[in-house]
Amino acid sequence: MLRPEENDLLTQTGPGTPLGQMMRAYWQPVALVSEMPEERPVKAVRIMSEDLVLFKREGGWALTSRFCAHRGVDLSYGRLEDGGLRCLYHGWLYGPDGRCKEQPAEPPHSKFIDKIRISSYTCEERNGIIFAYLGAGDPPPFPAFDCFDAPDEYTFAFKGLWECNWLQGVEGGIDPSHVSFLHRFIQEDPREVYGQQFSEEVEGTGKKLSMLVGESYRPDIEVESAEHGLRVFAIRQLTEQMKHVRVTNLMFPNAFVVPFGNTKVFTQWHVPIDDNNHYWFMVLYDFAEKTDKETLLAQRISEVTLPDYRPIRNRSNNWGFDATEQKELTFTGMGLDINVHDQWAVESMGPIQDRTVERLGVSDRAVTANRRLLLRALEQFEAGNPLPAHPIDDVQAKSFVGPLAVDTIAPTEGWQEHWRLKEQERRAASPWAAQSSTEVESVDA
Ligand code: FES
Ligand SMILES: [Fe+2]
Repeated sequence: MLRPEENDLLTQTGPGTPLGQMMRAYWQPVALVSEMPEERPVKAVRIMSEDLVLFKREGGWALTSRFCAHRGVDLSYGRLEDGGLRCLYHGWLYGPDGRCKEQPAEPPHSKFIDKIRISSYTCEERNGIIFAYLGAGDPPPFPAFDCFDAPDEYTFAFKGLWECNWLQGVEGGIDPSHVSFLHRFIQEDPREVYGQQFSEEVEGTGKKLSMLVGESYRPDIEVESAEHGLRVFAIRQLTEQMKHVRVTNLMFPNAFVVPFGNTKVFTQWHVPIDDNNHYWFMVLYDFAEKTDKETLLAQRISEVTLPDYRPIRNRSNNWGFDATEQKELTFTGMGLDINVHDQWAVESMGPIQDRTVERLGVSDRAVTANRRLLLRALEQFEAGNPLPAHPIDDVQAKSFVGPLAVDTIAPTEGWQEHWRLKEQERRAASPWAAQSSTEVESVDA
């Protein structure tokens, strides 16, 4: 439970807000490369309540204020020319740095042009996502996390609109206990679905993981501090000799890193559009095989409407809720796609969950730890102290690796070593990750 002022503090990210300023100190995803139109790569984007326009410049991307300094016209309709964006109203031309380069209707010797500059932010493309730095001063280097360092051909990026505050999205991602309920099948379903990772049979049990996880609904949840944020363990006793160990992570401040099947992991950011809406951006990376981007993209695009990436199932159609299905097939009655289940859970709370009336239990340990971390980091940021997952220089950036994310069956005795070995094996067998360090240091959160 939070006090009203704490709930505001952790949910408001507009310009000038404490959290907004701290989130701007991190590289944030602003668009997918695949959503930028080929013929005229210009797109209006809104991030943390700021209206911006993203456009292609030589050798990269530019992100500037969306409105012309002259009389406020929308530059996202502008003409992309001469290495910048030209306003349609009176032809002012802006460079990628936001400086006005031409004011054709002004007298030729006017110095007025030198005074005109709109906001502009540095962009960098990584694995299918255009990231921007909206903070003060120079951007930090990118940490050597797998999501940034995996070779492009082993990755796949996508995004989706969730109509609620960003923190609801993150809190869903780091909450390991909901898996036993929200994503459960009433009867095992043979169809190939998005949640297929749970449809594999667990050796020696004769049961699918989805069933075992559903039956073992009271996992031990342990949370550790890590240099990237938090490491979250969910440990389920499947049989006397066997545990299901799932290691996930909070990548501070607004992403989580979770395993997806045996060889894949994804990092998912939850980026505020404004305080009531956000986009999740995901980079999936495969340790073993190259990804089939075309197929994955077609499959994902069929689940949303463009250009907003709003899921087809959403509040306007009750997320496709079907009472018969709820009785006979799925726990939710909202289809087999676990993404929709997660979306429903956090959207159904309303745009900003009222955390002053919730009742958290022991199973919410990760959610609680994350809020403590956020509140503490806001103080650290204010005092100018180092922040999690925020390297101060290139040397430190190289030391920020992983995070490790594993889903495995482990022996009851020695599960702590088992999951690390599993991770090391996966990396040793990987064409690209073999060199990554798997050393981790941890302290209690
Ligand atoms: S409003 Fe943009 S040039 Fe006049
Ligand atoms: Fe979920």
